[in-house]
Amino acid sequence: TERTLCMIKPDGVERNLIGNVLTRIESAGLRIVALRKLRLTKAQAEGFYAVHKERPFFQSLVDYMTSGPIVAAVLEGENAIAVWRGLMGATNPANADAGTIRKDLALDVERNTVHGSDASETAAQEIPYFFNAMELQG
Ligand code: GTP
Ligand code: MG
Repeated sequence: TERTLCMIKPDGVERNLIGNVLTRIESAGLRIVALRKLRLTKAQAEGFYAVHKERPFFQSLVDYMTSGPIVAAVLEGENAIAVWRGLMGATNPANADAGTIRKDLALDVERNTVHGSDASETAAQEIPYFFNAMELQG
């Protein structure tokens, strides 16, 4: 069994899609271990996406990610990282498969509604960014 970090990004929270996304997660058999709603500060968003800091869209991405509240969750299950990324679909909704969250719900390549860790090392960094040990006992 494996854990991954999920975020519902500001465009998803703003459009009342929290329940829609959580239903897809639970229907796929992933367990929600921990869950919280928060608004990222600029420094927190820059830290979370530090790997992209040289990319041309970095400033826009940070502005977007701090534009409103997000939901962060830790998901658990067999191959949770790949299962969650499969539910999300491709980064750009124009390239996402039918039935994925990004195809069904996302607005564009930036406002793409959800985040998921892309590897076990990334998940191990991203989960403690939002949750402490006590919160991860669920
Ligand atoms: P995350 O789960 O959010 O990490 O998405 P990802 O792994 O599918 O994509 P990636 O890590 O490459 O990019 C991180 C985020 O930056 C994306 O989810 C988008 O919100 C944003 N992003 C990626 N590529 C572009 C782009 O070409 N233009 C803009 N404006 N934003 C982008
Ligand atoms: Mg990524």
